[in-house]
Amino acid sequence: MRPYIIALRRFGFFALAATLALPLLARGDERAAVGGNHTAPIGQGGMVVAQEALAARVGADILQKGGNAIDAAVAVGFALAVTFPRAGNIGGGGFMVIHLADGTDTTIDYRETAPAGIHAKSFLDETGNADPGKSRDSALAIGVPGTVAGLALAEQKYGSGKFTLAELIAPAIALARDGVTITEDAAAALVNRRLARWPASAKIFQKSDGVALGRGDRLMQAELADSLQAIARDGPRAFYQGPIAEKIAAAVSSAGGVMTVDDLRNYQAMERAPVRGSYRGYDVISMAPPSSGGVGLIEMLNILEGYDLGAIAQSDEAKAMHLLVEAMKRAYADRTLFLGDPERVQNPVALLTSKAYAAGWRAGIDPIHATAAADIRAGGTVQPEGRNTTHFSVIDRFGNAVANTYTLNFNFGVGLVAEGTGILLNNELDDFAAKPYVPNAFGLLGAEANEPGPGKRPLSSMTPAILLKDGKPFLITGSPGGSRIITTVLQIIVNVIDRGMDMAAAVAAPRIHDQWMPDQVYAEPDVPEAVIAALQAVGDKVVAQPPFTSANSIMITPQGFVGAADPRSRDALAVGF
Ligand code: DON
Repeated sequence: MRPYIIALRRFGFFALAATLALPLLARGDERAAVGGNHTAPIGQGGMVVAQEALAARVGADILQKGGNAIDAAVAVGFALAVTFPRAGNIGGGGFMVIHLADGTDTTIDYRETAPAGIHAKSFLDETGNADPGKSRDSALAIGVPGTVAGLALAEQKYGSGKFTLAELIAPAIALARDGVTITEDAAAALVNRRLARWPASAKIFQKSDGVALGRGDRLMQAELADSLQAIARDGPRAFYQGPIAEKIAAAVSSAGGVMTVDDLRNYQAMERAPVRGSYRGYDVISMAPPSSGGVGLIEMLNILEGYDLGAIAQSDEAKAMHLLVEAMKRAYADRTLFLGDPERVQNPVALLTSKAYAAGWRAGIDPIHATAAADIRAGGTVQPEGRNTTHFSVIDRFGNAVANTYTLNFNFGVGLVAEGTGILLNNELDDFAAKPYVPNAFGLLGAEANEPGPGKRPLSSMTPAILLKDGKPFLITGSPGGSRIITTVLQIIVNVIDRGMDMAAAVAAPRIHDQWMPDQVYAEPDVPEAVIAALQAVGDKVVAQPPFTSANSIMITPQGFVGAADPRSRDALAVGF
């Protein structure tokens, strides 16, 4: 079977009705649908949907060579570190949710950890106030990267055994060494003040005249290729010990951070049981703490399950949106108070994901009035920041599925490439609550459960998720978007299950978001005026929000795998065969 490819371009997609399907254009053995649509390909043999096309093809190639979804995911993970450097990474961390054909569900937690030198007051200024400069813009914000350990652990435990780790890294090495052409989307992202301020980063991402690489330029990453080569040869040890670790620690400390070679040597990716829930007969498998994503998602679904949302949406769309917003507020209030690194704090996961707990919340929802956030819990403000993380979904012909979300936190993380390694480092430690009830870059509040501490993992919102029907994969989804991730995944699920949308329509449909504090509903540009007016009428403050999530998803249908690259991302691609 030959692969076919649907390239999705963002241009004008919001103007299109969510159910519009454009014809496919033939181009050799690729089929591209361009001009602003969200048409999705169908595959039988395997599928990868990722936010950048070269990396998606790397994964599809591994599947075609007989690899399983985990092999492909690992190859995509390394490739995106080269082709999508604003979020793909080996200097950051993330989460992988895995469903195996034998029925096993598991997750790999490769979230960054705080260096041993980080403590509860690390991100405060002299007067005891939270200092965003420290937690977002300084080398203190850099967490010990988890990606290399996480991808290697996933491969070692769940790869097919047909490929060595080196074979899965090889495409990334070639892309780094041979270079990749900068697309319009990449060029826009590369104009970035965080990158520009470090000479080691500027020499890779800028031309000699100090201007960022532009569309059509080639991004050459020889040092990153060398680092990947070392990992291919010696495994994760090459990253966490020896010259690469020494260079990372030296770069962080000369930039004013506290990470040491010991912090790197001590890093461990962990396999964790997923959080599980159910929604109208589907099993929901997602990420447990240190991500709040799975808990929040299941909590919101449980609240919504008590309503006949499909029927309500048909007769009164605004009321359906109001119910979504009310569920969101409550789940995010719980996130704030209760959740943190499970190695350090008790997370009441069973309680928060129980149907009975959701029924309690539901009883307080007024069907015709917004609940003020302050009536749910205490408050804060928002400072929208940072737009990148990346999610990809993979399915193979054997019935294995992977949902993977990973990140540097902001675009290009803190912007610092560790001199001599080509590796961009994250600023993930801003996901801690620098001070209780002071918002992070995504406006999220946290309490003591998420205070900074040595070796601790900051609470995440990343929500890679797999839905099963009768034990078999039905939907693979996830997204970037900081605090908006959990509500994005929620709406993909509601769009599919309650609104009966197909994969492409569910991904393309405009989204709303409420994170309890600040007390407002964010609405993407194409949320209908009537819905906005109705939300305002029940008492919600509605604020326009640019589209910056990217829910690259796969639905498993009787006709085959249906992939939808999010039309909000210009370079996203669904590859099926
Ligand atoms: O782990 C988290 O929740 C955040 N660091 C994710 C950041 C993110 O999604 C930024 N991109 N849009």
